[in-house]
Amino acid sequence: MPAAGGFDKGNGKGYPGKLTPFVTVTCIVAAMGGLIFGYDIGISGGVTSMPSFLKRFFPSVYRKQQANSSTNQYCQYNSETLTLFTSSLYLAALLSSLVASSVTRKFGRKKSMLFGGVLFFAGALINGFAQGVWMLIVGRLLLGFGIGFANQSVPLYLSEMAPYKYRGALNIGFQLSITIGILIANVLNYFFAKIKGGWGWRLSLGGAMVPALIITIGSLVLPDTPNSMIERGQRDEAREKLRKIRGVNDVDEEFNDLVAASEASKQVEHPWGNLLKRKYRPHLTMAILIPFFQQLTGINVIMFYAPVLFNTIGFGNDASLMSAVITGLVNACATLVSIYGVDKWGRRSLFLEGGTQMLICQAIVAACIGAKFGVDGNPGELPKWYAVVVVLFICLYVAAFAWSWGPLGWLVPSEIFPLEIRSAAQSVNVSVNMAFTFVVAQIFLNMLCHLKFGLFIFFAFFVLVMSIFIFFFLPETNGIPIEEMGQVWKNHWFWSRYVGEDDFVSNGGVELQKGSNAINNV
Ligand code: BGC
Repeated sequence: MPAAGGFDKGNGKGYPGKLTPFVTVTCIVAAMGGLIFGYDIGISGGVTSMPSFLKRFFPSVYRKQQANSSTNQYCQYNSETLTLFTSSLYLAALLSSLVASSVTRKFGRKKSMLFGGVLFFAGALINGFAQGVWMLIVGRLLLGFGIGFANQSVPLYLSEMAPYKYRGALNIGFQLSITIGILIANVLNYFFAKIKGGWGWRLSLGGAMVPALIITIGSLVLPDTPNSMIERGQRDEAREKLRKIRGVNDVDEEFNDLVAASEASKQVEHPWGNLLKRKYRPHLTMAILIPFFQQLTGINVIMFYAPVLFNTIGFGNDASLMSAVITGLVNACATLVSIYGVDKWGRRSLFLEGGTQMLICQAIVAACIGAKFGVDGNPGELPKWYAVVVVLFICLYVAAFAWSWGPLGWLVPSEIFPLEIRSAAQSVNVSVNMAFTFVVAQIFLNMLCHLKFGLFIFFAFFVLVMSIFIFFFLPETNGIPIEEMGQVWKNHWFWSRYVGEDDFVSNGGVELQKGSNAINNV
């Protein structure tokens, strides 16, 4: 059998505690972190299809766009500086997420969130008032630094604050807020593009100041997590805080585990070196391949460039921005399906269904675009049914991503890493994600110009490979307490070669790692 099946969750731990207002506020702050990330993903594509924006900052792209339809449609947006505008943010986020992990550890999650919020704000301000391309790029670098800090600290904050049994749902809540951020950006682009005088792009870019302010203020008002307080030596305050957060007095079991976990992780001298040990081979593989594959679905071609893409395949400016709103809406709604189903149907079935659906849609979209635009990019007259079919299959593709690789690309890595490698492995996950977000953003317009409709076949190929990978190599993690997760590798047809019977010893819900006294409690 390809993978371990279900697993009895009966002997996992259950700490007392409920969804208190404190925890609810935590969720809202986490949502703000996601909103900002999503807003940035959604805003750039719309702005780069606004003629007034192109005319001012990227005149050569503007001239190509205005040229008559005999110009090759596949290449009308191909510009190094235009892609740099979009992708520079992710390079900055990649660098700062590496720095952010030590800031988050030394100064607490709150400080990192504050830092993230302030950087966002500065970036949005510079972008909103941009006078030249250099201001746009500096602004986007600052936004990227902000995202690196926020994406490192907000999910951590969320996981540490959340009661054990709500952790899974809250994790996808973060993805939901990313999709809502993208949607808000798409809607705003649609309306701001209509502003007479052509300065609507300033509102689109400057609008990021609003979510930035919310997360900045939120980080000032909220308490730090008990885990972080313990880590920084404030044990008594941390115990009190935990009581308040959980809404119960009896927090001893959880508190003691937090202290033990903190002690144990302090003893790990080389978390990065640890990651290379043989028994962590499955974890390292997943930390690299899951985010890599998530980006190679090609989703950000749609998220960043939907209006540009729709424009290329024959839609007017207005219709292009409207289509981006429609895909944004589908993205957000389909994420709800995942929140509903992830603990019922399991991760593997969502991954596999989503992969199959994406593959079929990509093949159909490639065929449609290929049939009409051919290799020379000259469509002639485009019938209405054609536009409807293309948008429909792009929506079905987005929906499939939104209930599979979107949320699971963040959820699965977060639930498989044992404590002693968790922070290092999570950094690998975040940086690989940002690196390939950057790569896809940077080369997409160029690839569209050269691969033409074959671009969709390129991504379809990766979707096929990743689905085969999931089928054979990812065990089901649904319904398994994190403390028991070592079992899934031991029972797996392939990974059992790397993870031996004694590597992760389960001890009634408390997992002692052989060779160290790390207690895996979260
Ligand atoms: C991905 C982003 C993507 C977004 C779309 C996230 O999970 O990491 O790259 O743009 O989903 O909703």
